[in-house]
Amino acid sequence: MELPPTISDFERRAAEILPPGPHGYYAGGASDEITLRDNVAAWQRLALRPRVMVDCSERDPSITVLGRRHAHPVIVAPTAFHALATPEGEAATARGAAATDTPFCLSSLSTTGVAELAARAPAARRWFQVYVFKDRAVTEEMVAAAVEHGYEALALTVDLPVFGMRERDMRSGFVVKHATAVPNLAAAGARGSLSLQDVGALIDPCLTWDDVGRFATDSGLPVLVKGVLTPEDARRAVDSGAAGIVVSNHGGRQLDTVLSGADALGPVVDEVGGELDVLVDGGIRRGTDVIKALALGARAVMIGRPVLWGLAVGGEEGVRRVLELLLAELDTALALAGAPRAAELDRSWIQPGPWAVS
Ligand code: FNR
Ligand code: LAC
Repeated sequence: MELPPTISDFERRAAEILPPGPHGYYAGGASDEITLRDNVAAWQRLALRPRVMVDCSERDPSITVLGRRHAHPVIVAPTAFHALATPEGEAATARGAAATDTPFCLSSLSTTGVAELAARAPAARRWFQVYVFKDRAVTEEMVAAAVEHGYEALALTVDLPVFGMRERDMRSGFVVKHATAVPNLAAAGARGSLSLQDVGALIDPCLTWDDVGRFATDSGLPVLVKGVLTPEDARRAVDSGAAGIVVSNHGGRQLDTVLSGADALGPVVDEVGGELDVLVDGGIRRGTDVIKALALGARAVMIGRPVLWGLAVGGEEGVRRVLELLLAELDTALALAGAPRAAELDRSWIQPGPWAVS
């Protein structure tokens, strides 16, 4: 199969291939999509300050997250319903990720179950994203399955007490056609076709900081709190026993006009960076974006939509190629920025750009 040569070509190709409903669901954000656009623009607003005459004959993109060595700082963000892109669903995504040593975070709203994914992608380093259902027994069961099947960490998503206002989905009438295709929704009692509001009605809007410690104790796994944007909440995450934070606005899909990950990251790192691992996501499309995130103090980055474009265009191979392209850009950027060891990047490599980006 002829695969597109760049990530933005994957994005365009995916828009041609996917039916309008699923494409709008994947691509879209909340309300006016101001945060959605700013997620990309905010990385572009930062200028790099490269160093020359540095020996870049060998580049080392490796970093440490949650006390474990990672070959590079890229992790696949949890995204729902991969069977919308390919019949193989999340197994294809996880295998494509594993081919590039990229950990894969499985969504609670996956179309492949926790145990099945482990069986179909045994080589993948797996994390599990937790949505807390009103029926807490369902959540306990899926977390227990993640522990039993060798998932390394839990990402507890805290920015979705309800779904954001997704206007593309309102226009397209997007629904999950069969609840039974999403094992955890079926376990939560869903039947037939579901709108996102129906899905949201199954999720518990009463999550509190005490839940973080409870998940950590019950599972024995490190818990990352995903969806923090302020230093105040980052402090609460530390106090509640989180092992890490993902600075994230959910890909601009929840509350529109909140800060981008790039703009929220620095203050969070300043507050808690010495106490737990801070990750970031939202709008990361280039190797230079990854470098900027690390320079601001992130340990690693999560990538959402580009992986879905890879999946829609080329299944497992497409995911692999998208990640290879991003990692090749990262390697080039490390050399050209004169920062051969990714772990040694700091804020002296960036400054606000003098240009405006729309
Ligand atoms: C998401 N995201 C998400 N997050 C989460 O914790 N659980 C989930 O099930 C989903 N589902 C989901 C579906 C789709 C289609 C998208 C695009 C995103 C948010 C995701 O983990 C991540 O925060 C963003 O996607 C990062 O932004 P980019 O890389 O997509 O710009
Ligand atoms: C979304 C949910 C599933 O953003 O996280 O669509």
